[in-house]
Amino acid sequence: MSRDMQACDFTIFGVLGDLSRRKLIPSLYQLDKARLLHDDTRIIGVARHELSREEFVAKMRESLETFVENPLQSDVVDRLLARLRYVLINLDADDEYAKLGDAIDQEKRVLINYLSVAPFLFDNICKGLAQATIVTPQTRVVIEKPIGRDLASSQEINDSIARSFSEDQVYRIDHYLGKETVMNLLALRFANSIFTTNWDHNTIDHVQITVAEEVGIEGRWGYFDKAGQLRDMVQNHLMQILTLVAMEPPVNLQGDSLRNEKLKVLKALRPITMENVDDTVVRGQYAGGFIKGEPVSGYLEEEGGNPDSSTETFVAIRVDIDNWRWAGVPFYLRTGKAMATKRSEVVVNFKQLPHNIFIDSYKKLPPNKLIIRLQPNEGVEIEVLNKVPGVAKVVELQRTMLDLSFSEAFVDERIADAYERLILEVMHGNQTLFVHRDEVERSWSWIDSIQDAWTQSNEPPKKYPAGTWGPVASVALLARDGYEWEE
Ligand code: BG6
Repeated sequence: MSRDMQACDFTIFGVLGDLSRRKLIPSLYQLDKARLLHDDTRIIGVARHELSREEFVAKMRESLETFVENPLQSDVVDRLLARLRYVLINLDADDEYAKLGDAIDQEKRVLINYLSVAPFLFDNICKGLAQATIVTPQTRVVIEKPIGRDLASSQEINDSIARSFSEDQVYRIDHYLGKETVMNLLALRFANSIFTTNWDHNTIDHVQITVAEEVGIEGRWGYFDKAGQLRDMVQNHLMQILTLVAMEPPVNLQGDSLRNEKLKVLKALRPITMENVDDTVVRGQYAGGFIKGEPVSGYLEEEGGNPDSSTETFVAIRVDIDNWRWAGVPFYLRTGKAMATKRSEVVVNFKQLPHNIFIDSYKKLPPNKLIIRLQPNEGVEIEVLNKVPGVAKVVELQRTMLDLSFSEAFVDERIADAYERLILEVMHGNQTLFVHRDEVERSWSWIDSIQDAWTQSNEPPKKYPAGTWGPVASVALLARDGYEWEE
């Protein structure tokens, strides 16, 4: 179903920065190529450098040439570049925002402000926009993590934005919500009766969520060392995947329906405190090792690093959701940098059958598994038992995979980058895929409690060699409950 397009003044603050060059401008190109931008939509770049429009356009052309993966189509490039305007604003100066007022036309176009800048600038930009009287009820603002480093600082950021924008004007990005396969979790769960009716403690034994990255920190030490993997990945991306897997069916896909259901899951998370942190969380830090046969230095040896840092690059957590649906079903999350390979997946392990009539083949029937591969090699697999053909044995069973690989099933479909979907949804004024303030704050308060427990216990993270699946303790975390990680 196609939707009506709205003409927008899509304004990118920090247009010359990394996110804008790598993701936003290339995504706008893809949207324009797919004819999903209104003819009158314009892209207004804001930065503090003295640049003529021609110089700005040349820089954006260079971004497209560098970061768009498929061959560029010159007519689309020209169409996109013709939409560009540039406004020089010193973001610290309150009185410069009127210049943006002169560049936009709110009678014809919806103003979208994408704050692709460091969060300490959010307050000033919002104030500047409000003072220049260019915030109308239709104006939207887009922000992205890090939304604080704990509950208090995230509230500060949310409060400062709330002084100029109401919650229905704020679009908080978690780019995982724009990923096709993450959204496919909704389709799997709520469009297929075999799953909708088998999705609770009666049929599911436990769930594993892995987001493993092969890259280390390389050049991002300054930011990462103050954050760590818990804040950088768990507070946002893993929590979002978890809530989508665990939430109750929303009444529809509109507005707050989905966000309210996700929030209920966050409210039901069993707190992790000093009392249970050792039994539920493993924190690791990579040491030197090998990734794909190449030597890799440890986190502490990386350039610009502090050799005494105790920041974690790996976390594994047993999460319990204290509600009716999930009573007694543990969710295990794990995420790390410099791991054996890049792989994100959700593995739903179903319960053992109550009785085994195939005892001659299998003493214990291995339970079914649903594996949802989020990236790379996106797809869905179901592990089932089948009879091996042949007459020599009465029945011989074998585990087999029903494997739906997206690249094979949807040969002609390109998997869009998350930012394409998210930018489009902002332009349509649809907040479903954006994170509500309440979700951010609930998630922080749960994370803060873990962080506090670590501070109190003062235990250093456990080492793991780069190129492996994390510290041995993370294996023990599952082994204690009688499980092992899906490898
Ligand atoms: C970002 C984190 O939000 O997500 C990075 O700050 C991480 O540390 C990245 O590498 C992972 O995103 P993706 O899309 O590559 O899985």
